[in-house]
Amino acid sequence: MTESHPKITKAVIPAAGLGTRFLPATKATPKEMLPVVDKPAIQYVVEEAVAAGLDDVLMITGRNKRPLEDHFDRNYELESALAKKGDESRLAKVQESSDLATMHYVRQGDPRGLGHAVLCAAPHVGREPFAVLLGDDLIDPRDPLLARMVEIQERHGGSVIALMEVAPEQIHLYGCAAVEATSEGDVVKVTDLVEKPEAADAPSNYAIIGRYVLDPHVFDILRKTEPGRGGEIQLTDALQQLAADEKIGGPVHGVVFKGRRYDTGDRGDYLRAIVRLACEREDLGPDFKAWLRSYVTEEM
Ligand code: UTP
Repeated sequence: MTESHPKITKAVIPAAGLGTRFLPATKATPKEMLPVVDKPAIQYVVEEAVAAGLDDVLMITGRNKRPLEDHFDRNYELESALAKKGDESRLAKVQESSDLATMHYVRQGDPRGLGHAVLCAAPHVGREPFAVLLGDDLIDPRDPLLARMVEIQERHGGSVIALMEVAPEQIHLYGCAAVEATSEGDVVKVTDLVEKPEAADAPSNYAIIGRYVLDPHVFDILRKTEPGRGGEIQLTDALQQLAADEKIGGPVHGVVFKGRRYDTGDRGDYLRAIVRLACEREDLGPDFKAWLRSYVTEEM
């Protein structure tokens, strides 16, 4: 790390989206609060930021998102009831989320897109590089990604995005990166970005997933970025400008992720995340796996 590449301490978690793919569950409950086994999806995301050394967390929220703030705050009534009963293990579970990180919140009045959500973080972040973790993207805790991205940013400066190889017929669901190889197998240089291209127009099968380490120049670009695809201010459009002109905020690198990742805003992926993480839990796994095995062989 050099002086021109200051240490990253802040994580921004955009969680102001409407979650329409999960209606009606998300009519009054944020999708980030849906439980993955016995923890809300958002807690895994905050734990991931803390595990990568970022314990200053700014969450971008909106209407109907109060439960997110409550989850990371103390609940004295519940805590004193559990303490009175001497139920130490449940008390620890209640306190875990409020002791995790220093939490800050800002509201995105109108959900005008991911780029606009990130811009809401500008006053809190200032002129330091910072991480962005999408609140509905769950990276398996055993496959660390963010720490590697922070390391690459501290070495090269500029911005770092997370990429995953997907099948060509899936690329229209993601932002897509044109890349050049580097001397490190899991790191590429990003030369261009396209938001949700058709397979025939896609420059590669590298899809952008919900982890970013960004140079603060991205705020200057986002302030001038017009609404793009879907009438939303797209983060990908701003990143595309960073990749096109290194003089603005340094290079854009990509870390290619090969681990387990779930989009908990998608119903199928959400179910897969629960089954997989439940199977691997020491307390629940053995019984649940035995049941699952017999269910699959006898019922399906
Ligand atoms: P999605 O594309 O998943 O949109 O946003 P969404 O509205 O949350 O969900 P669907 O598609 O309607 O089901 C990607 C991420 O960007 C955040 C979301 O909370 C999610 O973490 N986001 C999106 C914002 O914070 N603000 C926005 O204006 C849009």
